Parts: sequence; structure tokens; C-alpha cells
Amino acid sequence: MPTPTASRIAIIGAGSVGSTIAYTLLTNPIASEILLVDPKEEIRDAQVQDLSDATYHGNTSTQVRAGTHAEAGQCDVIVVTAGAKQKKGESRTDLIGRNQSILRSVITDMQPFKPEAILLLVANPVDVLAYFALQYSGLPANQVIGSGTFLDSARLRGALATKAGVAASSIDAFVLGEHGESQIVAWSSACIAGIPLHVFPATRSLDREAMATETKQKASALIESKGSTEFGIGSVTASICRSILFDQKVVRPVSIYVDELKVCLSKTVVLGRKGVEEIVELPLSDEESGALESSAKQLREVIEEAEK
Ligand code: 2OP
Repeated sequence: MPTPTASRIAIIGAGSVGSTIAYTLLTNPIASEILLVDPKEEIRDAQVQDLSDATYHGNTSTQVRAGTHAEAGQCDVIVVTAGAKQKKGESRTDLIGRNQSILRSVITDMQPFKPEAILLLVANPVDVLAYFALQYSGLPANQVIGSGTFLDSARLRGALATKAGVAASSIDAFVLGEHGESQIVAWSSACIAGIPLHVFPATRSLDREAMATETKQKASALIESKGSTEFGIGSVTASICRSILFDQKVVRPVSIYVDELKVCLSKTVVLGRKGVEEIVELPLSDEESGALESSAKQLREVIEEAEK
């Protein structure tokens, strides 16, 4: 299959999430080259060899190789997965101490960045790390993005699709705010083929609270059972990379810096080659707006605590 673009994507961290993202990017070719970067050279090199084995059937022309942080800084998209993962019973914000110092060090090692590089944060707590990545990198705010609530929105749409008996792609429903405890569902704008959920027959009497809770707790439930999550985030990350490198201008809920709130959190944005090309403000009910502000406040508290 011909390579669609001559772009390069670096993945920082060759653990289960980083390698799953690399695999997804190999099997859905988006870039000409993927660089896997990790100071644990033995694991990194083994992952590169295993991933290379997946490229020998002629179904991809994307190459994968080990790279350095300095090389990563010159790539078109840099996906940061490096850091500790949530363990059973931990929240994403419990990881901030460990993952903030890892982030600072990898960003220092990657500098200077290619001027148009997009820094895509995936490690958790993703909103807080996106905020610090913006500070440490010096890149413009539109070029620093967190995967945010794109995955939560995919989980919500999946649950709604099952309930309504329609394809998830026919549903517009977004989770906004923190990729974590204070996230909110923008129910007031959710619809199926343009029909509001309270009008669509199968969702007229939907238990919204139960569905929002199930969405929010899905990662913890999976971590409880299998120790980690990687396939959902792999797919979501590849989708963000595709939107950027193919300049698709699709609207996605991802974490970005919001000046009025002084935090990074998820809003719906237009994703293209410049990264965040525009914020698309969803019309929210008063209750949803209040919940989004409260989500920002909670993220601000985590940032302030981490800055001490
Ligand atoms: C997830 O939501 C753990 O943030 C990761 O799957």
C-alpha cells in the first residue's frame, strides 16, 4: 500500500500504550516512519523488532525504528506516553508527581522542536500534563494537545449505539472537561441523526446518570480486570494523528489550553495540520456550563499543588 504522506510520528515510551499506538499506526498507515523512543533500550529494541514483524506482509509501507529524543523533536507529531500507569485503585491524578518530572525531562531532551511539530499528550493525568507540556515546550497552544475525553466520548457513543441500535458514527455525543473524575457529558447537544436523545424513541427514557457513570468508570473497571487499557487509546491516538497529518478538519473532543480557565481540558475543536485550528463551542445548558467550570477548578487545584 503506498504511504499516504511523508510524515514522521515519534512515540515517547515503548510500554504497552506506546507500542499499541505504534501498531495501530502501522496497520492504518498514516506516516512514512514511526520512531519509538525509550531509555529502556532492550525493551524499545524488542518492541521495534516485534512491530517490524507486522510490516513484512506488504500491507504497509510505514517503517518503524528506534529513535532518540532529539530526533523525536524533529518529527511532525510527537506522542507522549511515557510515565507510570494507573494501578488498581489509583486515580489518574495520583500519577502527577511521577509523570510531571518524566515529562519535564523528555521535553528538555527533545528541544529544540521542529517549529510546526504537534505535541500530543497521552500519558495521565493527561489534562495536567498537557498544561505542563505547553509551559515546558514553548510551542504555541494550538500545537499542544491531550487525547483528553476523545476516548470517553467514544465509550459513550458506543453505549448509546448499543442502546439505540444505530451505528456509533450516526451519534453526536461528547464528553468534555477532565479525562477523569470531573468530566461532564454534554447531554443537551447529544443527538442521533440530528434527533435529540429525548425525542429519539430508543433513548427517550435513557438513564443518563447511569450511562455517564459507566462511561467515566470504564477505564477503572478495565484496569481492575486486565491491569491496563491500550486498544481504545491506540485507536483514538491514531485517529488524532490522521486528522492532523491529513489536515482533515474533523471536530473532536481533545484537551487544549483554554485561556479563560487557565487549564487544559477537553472541548470540541477542529483538528487539522496546524493542530487545533478552532475551538467549536458546544451550546451547553447552565448546569453543564457550571459542571465544566467546576471541572476546570479541580484541574487548577491539581496544577497548583504540582507547582508547589
Ligand atoms: C483510559 O481511559 C486509562 O486513561 C486511560 O483508558
